[in-house]
Order: sequence, then structure tokens, then C-alpha cells
Amino acid sequence: MQDTARSLTQAQAARRYQLFIDGKFVDSRTRKTFESINPHDRSVVAVVAEGDKNDVDAAVKAARAAFERTWSSTPPGERARFLLRIADLIEANAPELARLESLDAGIPIALSTPIVGECASIFRYWAGMATKIHGLTTDAMRPGQYLGYTLREPLGVVGGITPWNGPLLMASWKTAPALACGNTVVLKPAEHTPMTALELARLAAEAGVPDGVLNVVPGFGPTAGAALAQHPGVDKIAFTGEYVTGRLIVQMSTSNLKTVTLELGGKSPHIIFDDVDLEAAVANALFGLFTFTGQICAAGTRLLVQETLYDRFVHRFVERAQQIAIGDPLDYSTRMGPLASEEQLRKVQRYVEIGKKEGATLRCGGGQPKAPALADGFYFEPTVFTEVDNKMQIAQEEIFGPVGSVIKFHDEEEALRIGNDVIYGLAAGVQTKDIKRAHRLAKQLQAGTVWINTWHMIEPNSPFGGYKLSGYGRENGLAMVEHLTRLKQVWVDLNDFTMDLFAV
Ligand code: NAI
Ligand code: MG
Repeated sequence: MQDTARSLTQAQAARRYQLFIDGKFVDSRTRKTFESINPHDRSVVAVVAEGDKNDVDAAVKAARAAFERTWSSTPPGERARFLLRIADLIEANAPELARLESLDAGIPIALSTPIVGECASIFRYWAGMATKIHGLTTDAMRPGQYLGYTLREPLGVVGGITPWNGPLLMASWKTAPALACGNTVVLKPAEHTPMTALELARLAAEAGVPDGVLNVVPGFGPTAGAALAQHPGVDKIAFTGEYVTGRLIVQMSTSNLKTVTLELGGKSPHIIFDDVDLEAAVANALFGLFTFTGQICAAGTRLLVQETLYDRFVHRFVERAQQIAIGDPLDYSTRMGPLASEEQLRKVQRYVEIGKKEGATLRCGGGQPKAPALADGFYFEPTVFTEVDNKMQIAQEEIFGPVGSVIKFHDEEEALRIGNDVIYGLAAGVQTKDIKRAHRLAKQLQAGTVWINTWHMIEPNSPFGGYKLSGYGRENGLAMVEHLTRLKQVWVDLNDFTMDLFAV
């Protein structure tokens, strides 16, 4: 296994991808292309057709036609079979998908491999859901006189706009539930990492999914993304990305009042009390912060540590952060790969300078690793600031890199206050052995997900989304069904009763 991932890369020139519209791979109307870069060495991994307004329009029309022609009337059990076939094909192609994900996004292969497996599970979960979506009877107010019932109907065309940090996972989150609910999809993957969304389209076609049901239009945000968000033929946008972009999406959605769900950034507090087992707490904090090189919206970036544990925690945390195996994402021993783009590298460097100026103590990292083999990539060392005040910019703003801020707190009340004192509310976590305290905080923390003595637990059935500027709406599970369908109320008179209000 170990050598396979490598030798395939070296042997391969840049791949070429077209847009996927109405069941076919096609060039963009403008014939423009863009390059997707391997963050490990800046080589070009793919040359990709660049979709624009007219391509998005063609994709939306194809999706609308497929919705009306087949998908909305395809029996749910049939839809489930298509989704199960996609899941099987994801599994059958898992080594290649994991490799492409690592090449394009810099995710270590040791992580991208299980994540591809997770994508198959997502399709299976939604295959199961497809046959369980239905309305209810609502005759309770006048039993026997009227029959009332609801129909739960698909929305129509759903637009998905995804970020670069977990490309196939994000594509699966946007696609599987929408298709299960009977909608057709136009997906606009992030410009930095378009490959696996297009591979997913290929697999969907191989699974026999009818033409036009899933369309993928790679391109840039202000062009392809904005065209999708504005399009009057799109019924809903599911967006993941920055909150500034999220606001624009909401503004653009007003053309036809399409519904929007927003999964935006975070600055999640990870609160660690002095009653924990130190080694377990440190391992959990490392996992929460440095997974995906810190490029996860739900990363535990603010480590709130009780003052009585603070020195011991910091010592061990910094020691272990420095031991993280940074390297080529295609090496199975790598635990932390590069940042996804040069832009992201510059952003992280800028924040490290800000942190130093603000007076935080830089305890480790803060620059690019020295190993010559990593010199061409967007690598950055695991970086820990201590003596951080929660008012500092590095504690308030989403850095999206391997940079953590350790903040000291005195007691539960102060931990809660600092934990909630941020514009975001995506996730929060508590480590303690005191179960009463854990549940108290779970209730009081303003976040869409609270992890107790764990981190990054997200399953296809667990609603995921934010409070405050982390967005609204929930993805996954039954909550997502609500966002991807609408209810119709039907009333039937059972007794030939005519309300003849105007009888003369
Ligand atoms: P972004 O929000 O600009 O991009 C996310 C997606 O939105 C991409 O597909 C992009 O093409 C699209 N987009 C951008 N501008 C658009 C517009 N005007 N209309 C429609 N679609 C548009 O995020 P970006 O620039 O890639 O990352 C910047 C920062 O955002 C990161 O440093 C991080 O702080 C945050 N972020 C958060 C993510 C999360 O998972 N919550 C994921 C990615 C980024
Ligand atoms: Mg790339």
C-alpha cells in the first residue's frame, strides 16, 4: 500500500476535467480553464474547465428538467437504490478518491482514506432516509368531519456551494440528502479543490443516476458561485464557507426568495478543567486543533485551560505539538499536511505576526518547517500561543490554520463567559470528569455542537450547524429533511358539508 500512492503521483501528468452538465462532461461555454495546485509542491494536479454564468444557467435548466421529468416522481425506493450504488462505487474507488483528495487538498492519506469511507456511509444513510420521508394526517381538530393531511414534497433544484477543506465530504453532505429528498442538484465546488466533486459526478453517472439529476460546475465564487446563488431557477442554496460570503449569498438569494442554509466559520472554545487525565486531555486538544492542519470550521482553536492545570498542560501540549509528523500527504506516516493554498499560508503567517504584536507568547512553531523536502509546499508548523487574552485578534478571528490560542481561566463561570465571548458559535467542548458540570456547560455554551471529552464527532444523523455568525440551518439527519422539503396541507370534506356563507 505504502508505495502505491506515491508511484501513481509521480507517474501522472495533470488530469483534465470538464464541467458535468446533464449527464455529460462538457467544456465551459467560454472554453476557459483554471489550474488546481498540489499544495505539497505547487505542481499542477488538474486543469479544469471554468464554469461561468451561462454554464450555471445550463446546469440549472438541466436540473429543473430532470426534476420535472424523472427525479421528483421516481419512487423513493428507486432513489435509494441509486444512492446505494453510488456508495458502493465510492468504496470500490476509495484508494483513488483518497489519493486525489490528498493531492488536491493536502489531506494526509491516513485521514483521507477513512473520510472517503465516511462519504460512502453518508450515501447509505440517505438511501435509508429516502423511504422515510412523508407527511402526517392532521385531522385532530375535527375528526370524522374533515380529513387533513400533509404532503412532504421536494423543493426542486438545490444549489450546493462548498469550500476546499474537505472536498468530497462536503460534496457528499450537499448531494446525498438533496437527492434522497427528491431534489436535483447543481454543485459548485471550491476552486482550489474541484477534482473529487467531479469524480462523484462520474460515479453517479456510472450508478445510472438519470441525466441532469446531479450537475457539477467548477469555477470561481464571484462568477459561478454568484450565478448559482442569484439564479431564479434555484430553490435552495446549501452553503459552507466564510461568513462574509454567507452574507452575500443571503443577499443574492432574495431574487426569488430561495431558502438558504449556511454553515460558516468558528472560533470554538475547548474548555479543559483541572480534574482531567492530562494525557487524554492533551491528545484530545491536539486532535481538535491540528486535524486537517487546522483547516476545519469546527476546530478547537481556543484552548481554555483552568489556571491550576495551566502550566502542566501547556508544557505537555507544546511538547506533543512539536512531535507531530508533518510531511507529504501521500505518505501514510504523515499526520499533518500542508495548508491548502498559498493564500491560506499567507493568511496564517499574517495572524502569527498579529499574535506576536498583540503580546501573546509564541511557545512553538510560527513559521514554515525547515525540511528541504517540504520547501516548495504550503507547510506551516504546529503553532501555539499562550498567555492569550480573549480580546486579542488571534482569539477572536478564524485563522484556519494550525494555530492555537491557550487562554487561562479561574472557574466555571469565567470559562463560560470567555467561551461564549466571540462572534461565532459553531462548536464548543468541555473536558472534565464532573458530569454535572459537563451537562451544565453543554446547556449554556452557545454552539451548534458541544463535545464532552471528545472532539470532531459528526455523524450523518447528527444535526450540524451554528449559532450567531456560524450560520443557520442544520445539515445531516432529520433536521436536513426539513430544509430540503416543503409541506403542503390538504383538506377533504368527508360529509358533503358546504360552507354556504353567501346563501340568500
Ligand atoms: P469562501 O467563503 O470564499 O469560499 C467558499 C465557497 O464559496 C467556494 O466555493 C467559493 O468559490 C464560493 N464563493 C466565494 N465567493 C462567492 C460569492 N461572491 N458568491 C458565491 N459563492 C462564492 O471561503 P475561502 O475564501 O475559500 O476561505 C476563506 C476563509 O473562510 C478561510 O480562511 C476560513 O476562515 C473560512 N472558511 C471556512 C470554512 C468552513 O468550513 N466553515 C471552509 C472554507 C473557508
Ligand atoms: Mg488544489
